[in-house]
Amino acid sequence: MHDKRTESPEVADMGSCPRSPADPEFRDDEDAATAASPIYGPIARGPFVLGQLGQSLDGRIATPTGHSRTISGAAGIAHLHRLRAMADAVVVGIGTILADDPQMTVRAVPGRHPARVVIDPRGRMPCDARVLADNGAPCFVVQTAAQPRPAGVMVLTLPADPSGGVDPHALVAALAARGFRRLLIEGGGQTVSRFLACGALTRLHVCVTPVLIGSGPTGLCLPPITRMEEALRPRCRTHLLGDDVLFDISFDRPQG
Ligand SMILES: NC(=O)c1ccc[n+]([C@@H]2O[C@H](COP(=O)([O-])OP(=O)(O)OC[C@H]3O[C@@H](n4cnc5c(N)ncnc54)[C@H](OP(=O)(O)O)[C@@H]3O)[C@@H](O)[C@H]2O)c1
Repeated sequence: MHDKRTESPEVADMGSCPRSPADPEFRDDEDAATAASPIYGPIARGPFVLGQLGQSLDGRIATPTGHSRTISGAAGIAHLHRLRAMADAVVVGIGTILADDPQMTVRAVPGRHPARVVIDPRGRMPCDARVLADNGAPCFVVQTAAQPRPAGVMVLTLPADPSGGVDPHALVAALAARGFRRLLIEGGGQTVSRFLACGALTRLHVCVTPVLIGSGPTGLCLPPITRMEEALRPRCRTHLLGDDVLFDISFDRPQG
């Protein structure tokens, strides 16, 4: 049987991130080489809506207290930062801000910080969240109704979908209208699941680390099905990132 797994030294060596050939800073030799890599080549070619999750062997993305920082190994973390550097904007749910207080910047590899986008319909964002720090990249908060916000926060108000939430397709369109067409949906599980459930993802990276957490939130959760024929079976390639295994899942185009 053909083994589609590929060793990925370009992740482990923490090298620079590939730019799209459409990027004015694209450097022919170096960038073309990395853009041809099996992991980053397909992403570097154009707009994307890429969901990502780093999870344990037992499918957990955090402990019950919400601690998730050290699930992925060094190569998995470098990979995540490289995805951030390739994105125009990185999207997270407010649950991730409250649990992790992430900066959502590019630090483990060379590259530009993306815009940061937080889906926070109920106005739970703390005034001192680190994502609000001015690092030259804008931070948007997405809501469906007016909420009190800290000064300087850019607000994106979208109509509520039938469930009262933010429609991922509407958010993708609103960000595209602002020039953000390469989107990394970084977490957490609820946010990535909502994008997947409505067919808004073009790609999904699930990075599995050989660790057993045993309890805590699981990554993907979709509406229940009754028979295996109804399960999603997208195209998938696997890559080794140190001890982690990256499942690189391709949806030909956003569905729905
Ligand atoms: N391992 C990893 O790769 C990874 C990555 C990121 C985060 N995490 C971990 O995941 C945990 C947080 O994940 P989570 O699933 O609980 O939360 P989350 O996805 O970060 O945030 C969920 C919340 O965001 C809002 N939201 C997101 N999408 C929405 C939509 N389309 N419409 C309306 N509201 C939307 C809702 O806020 P309201 O409830 O206020 O309406 C929802 O409850 C943390 O423990 C964090 O450490 C792990």
